[in-house]
Amino acid sequence: MSGLFVAFEGVDRSGKTTQLSLLAERLGEKHEVVVTREPGGTPVAEAIRVLLLADDVNMSARCEALLFAAARADHVERTIRPALERGAVVLSDRFVDSSLAYQGVARGLGVDEVERVNMWATGGVAPDLTIMLDLPTGTSTARDGEVDRMESEGELFQARVRRGLLDLAARDVHRYSVIDASGTIEEVADLVWASIPDEWR
Ligand code: TYD
Repeated sequence: MSGLFVAFEGVDRSGKTTQLSLLAERLGEKHEVVVTREPGGTPVAEAIRVLLLADDVNMSARCEALLFAAARADHVERTIRPALERGAVVLSDRFVDSSLAYQGVARGLGVDEVERVNMWATGGVAPDLTIMLDLPTGTSTARDGEVDRMESEGELFQARVRRGLLDLAARDVHRYSVIDASGTIEEVADLVWASIPDEWR
């Protein structure tokens, strides 16, 4: 596949979405850019998202992991893979690492098991680069805004997610860029830009 696949990860409210749209604007001057998100990115995956994030829904951890993976399977097949095949840049707000950290680590299902389910769901399609926007968890939950089902899990859960993401990043330093998200929007955007491979900038 000739495109570039970049995933953004981070604990809730790390400023991912803002940084992703700034990067999309900048890369869009030279390339076709597809901005997408998880759970979501296709009509079916967006419908699964509603179910996953509704605060009045209660489900088992395995059901949750499978629903995230099901949404991802459709997202890869219908949105991500075709875009990469035509040479576009795909910027996804979250991808498999979210499942490894949230369901694998924080929910306790185990990283290896969740990874196995996701390998099947994605057919092995994986980001060329994963940008992790890192913030101490107390800071991130202190920001204002609506709280969905995952966000309402509390600070200990968020701390486990952060630890999980940092461990994944340490496992593969070439594919990850861990960025301190506590700076100004411009400072963080510069660090994000610097992590994009030269040939795409
Ligand atoms: P969203 O509103 O997109 O949050 P954020 O802006 O923090 O990305 O909600 C997605 C939520 O779902 C978020 O709390 C992370 C969680 N999530 C998982 O638990 N597993 C996954 O595989 C994905 C993609 C997201």
